[in-house]
Amino acid sequence: MATVQDASPIYELEDVWKSFDGRPVLRGIDLTIPTGQTLVVMGPSGCGKSVMLKHLVGLLKPDRGRIRFHGDPIESLSEQRLVPLRRRIGFLFQQAALFDSLTVRENLAFPLLETGQAGSDLEERILDCLRRVGLEDAIDQMPSELSGGMRKRVGLARAIVLEPELVLYDEPTTGLDPIRANVINDLIVRLQRDLSLTSVVVTHDLDSAFQVADRMVLLHEGRVRIEGTPDELRQSEDPVLRSFLEGRTFEDDDMDAAPADTLVAGAGPNQENPSS
Ligand SMILES: Nc1ncnc2c1ncn2[C@@H]1O[C@H](COP(=O)(O)OP(=O)(O)O)[C@@H](O)[C@H]1O
Ligand SMILES: [Mg+2]
Repeated sequence: MATVQDASPIYELEDVWKSFDGRPVLRGIDLTIPTGQTLVVMGPSGCGKSVMLKHLVGLLKPDRGRIRFHGDPIESLSEQRLVPLRRRIGFLFQQAALFDSLTVRENLAFPLLETGQAGSDLEERILDCLRRVGLEDAIDQMPSELSGGMRKRVGLARAIVLEPELVLYDEPTTGLDPIRANVINDLIVRLQRDLSLTSVVVTHDLDSAFQVADRMVLLHEGRVRIEGTPDELRQSEDPVLRSFLEGRTFEDDDMDAAPADTLVAGAGPNQENPSS
């Protein structure tokens, strides 16, 4: 789904480090996020995917390194200067995080009211977003009356109500059965296409990852282990990637021989070490 606008990336992360209580989680992330595409960030639980996502909106600041949004470094921006940036970004967090005491309509109206955009077209904008996720009939319902999959879809509708240029998804299919997960996957692809969004999808769900990605990265030991298209990753012989795709842990003995540096997709062991 590449378009001409792709020329300049939406984000560039350069040597991003982050520790908690002296324990490093991100250890030099280098990553370019192309505009107008869906990038999937994969990695096992606890490897730092959510931490990385939070850096993209300034909810966390790196200890070291640079995060550029449309070329501008954002890691040193004040909370006040992050506000307009965050308005250009929609989030779908892991728990969907709807307001339980508000109806679906009120949940979607909230970001519009908060940003002073609740004009005479308020109802129409809410309905348009609900229609995109197939839930216009749920407009008067309370979140507690909805299934987990429907709540995710309301969360998704709310994430796009401010017409963002970028949507960040944190584990959008976690806790859903395969059928409901597929509905979400289809929506991610459709919204990206219809609204020309850039999407960043964090997931450890491989089916979902390969279904929605234009490009994919695997995080490993706090760095980008490998980056490429789904086809490039499928064909890659990188042992850490193979382990991850086959559902094994990274701590297997055969990992010791793996070069620790970031690999380029498609560069298998033979290309790494032509003499072998
Ligand atoms: N605010 C925080 N304070 C301390 N530790 C944190 C914080 N946020 C994340 N961590 C730790 O960082 C590591 C990576 O977390 P996370 O990014 O949530 O993993 P995941 O890849 O599953 O999304 C975990 O060990 C987690 O406990
Ligand atoms: Mg997470």
